[in-house]
Amino acid sequence: EIGLYEEPFRPQYHFSPPEKWMNDPNGLVYHQGIYHLFYQYYPEDIVWGPMHWGHATSTDLLHWENKPIALYPDKNGLIFSGSAVVDTENTSGLGTKDNPPLVAVFTYHDMEKEKAGGNDYQTQGVAYSLDNGETFTVYEGNPVLLNSEFKDFRDPKVFWDEAMEHWVMALVAGDHLRLYHSDNLLEWTYMSRFGEDQGAHGGVWECPDLFELKVDGTDERKWVLLISINPGAPNGGSGTQYFVGDFDGITFTSDQREAKWLDRGTDNYAGVTYNNTPGGERIFIGWMSNWDYARDTPTEVWRSAMTLPRTLSLAKFNGDYTLVNYPIGRVGELLTKESDLDLKIDGGAEEKIGLESGSQTSLYFKTALEDLTFVLRNDSGEEVVMKLDSQEGLFSLDRSRSGIVDFQESFGKIQQMPLNHQEGDILEFDLFIDASSIEIFINKGQYAMTAQVFPTVPYSEFSIENGMSDRLEIDTLEVFTVAGIWK
Ligand code: FRU
Repeated sequence: EIGLYEEPFRPQYHFSPPEKWMNDPNGLVYHQGIYHLFYQYYPEDIVWGPMHWGHATSTDLLHWENKPIALYPDKNGLIFSGSAVVDTENTSGLGTKDNPPLVAVFTYHDMEKEKAGGNDYQTQGVAYSLDNGETFTVYEGNPVLLNSEFKDFRDPKVFWDEAMEHWVMALVAGDHLRLYHSDNLLEWTYMSRFGEDQGAHGGVWECPDLFELKVDGTDERKWVLLISINPGAPNGGSGTQYFVGDFDGITFTSDQREAKWLDRGTDNYAGVTYNNTPGGERIFIGWMSNWDYARDTPTEVWRSAMTLPRTLSLAKFNGDYTLVNYPIGRVGELLTKESDLDLKIDGGAEEKIGLESGSQTSLYFKTALEDLTFVLRNDSGEEVVMKLDSQEGLFSLDRSRSGIVDFQESFGKIQQMPLNHQEGDILEFDLFIDASSIEIFINKGQYAMTAQVFPTVPYSEFSIENGMSDRLEIDTLEVFTVAGIWK
């Protein structure tokens, strides 16, 4: 008998639902000591189906308590993605000032209407909780935002605009963002649109998020718009692009023409950030999968997991705004150092490092950008091959022999990440390996790559091959065991 959270491929320090299908994170909000994680959930099967909001809570964003389903499909439709806010002033009248309501704003997808034809089957609805998310009441006046125009009209992200003193809703309509405002979360007025001529448009826009960040080391403030897109990501299928720009309370503008990508890996999608965090930090969680093969991955009890919670910050590198994403500091509490190595690898040689804790390992090292190959291997000859190419300025990940890969044709394709660096520049690596994922951060999140892998036994060795003729010196390579979160 295999226990819950002990099944093959089960993530040990990432969130995954106890059973059945999960996709996007929803309603990320902090309230009265609790971080809520709602998620797109189908409780009947391990493939997508009529959507509910599953629910888990945490006091530290690391350890999660699974909760009963929060929202069920109702007469207005299935419950698609959305967000949640704390209505502190009780602007909605759905609670009291003493007990402000937690208000979830989500998309209804009406399958009956869809079948009947037309474009009016996605609308926005509201539900509220007066007991910090334990139970929800569906607002009787739903839907609160109708739609007659757009086939895709969804994924509302709501936030309180301090300057304008009202609520703002960002949602997507196929190829563009739309912004609305409201005084009470229940009646919404259209303000502006953005994006049909900017960024990537290889697929439909989904799961927007809009927030302000200070540029590291300056007093400059910019607004960041996250837009998930499926398909059309640089390494195939689903991915998350972002725009850096300005928001004057009505319109978001950006002079950015080309897409920038939050994560170059194939497995970080539909990610959004927390509302109402205690210190105002921007904390992001993404769905660690890709619509290209999400339904086909070789798990049986549940399907898919979330990324580690990541802090978002904005930096300027060579004059270029970059959204940096890196695991929240508290992830460090899960790490125990196993070894600290000082490596000197001759030209053409390979150094092998044993991984005691197999698929619950984190690695940290610094190296110059040279021609190097890093390999994660297990005893069954399965391997993940990562390469640094100094001429091309590229990092790549090849999971074509990483374990079970034949469930979908493109899963084994090599993933590439261009580096805005020159040969010899120092790069700092963090790798987080769990039972079925690898998250790679270079330079503390200037570059990120997230990929699922399904090794049939844990990886037990990490090797570095020096592809140069000169000797390679790495003065610190730290190996950590990562504590599991479910026991
Ligand atoms: C993104 C998405 C959203 C939608 C939800 C449906 O992965 O397609 O746009 O609301 O999933 O489950």
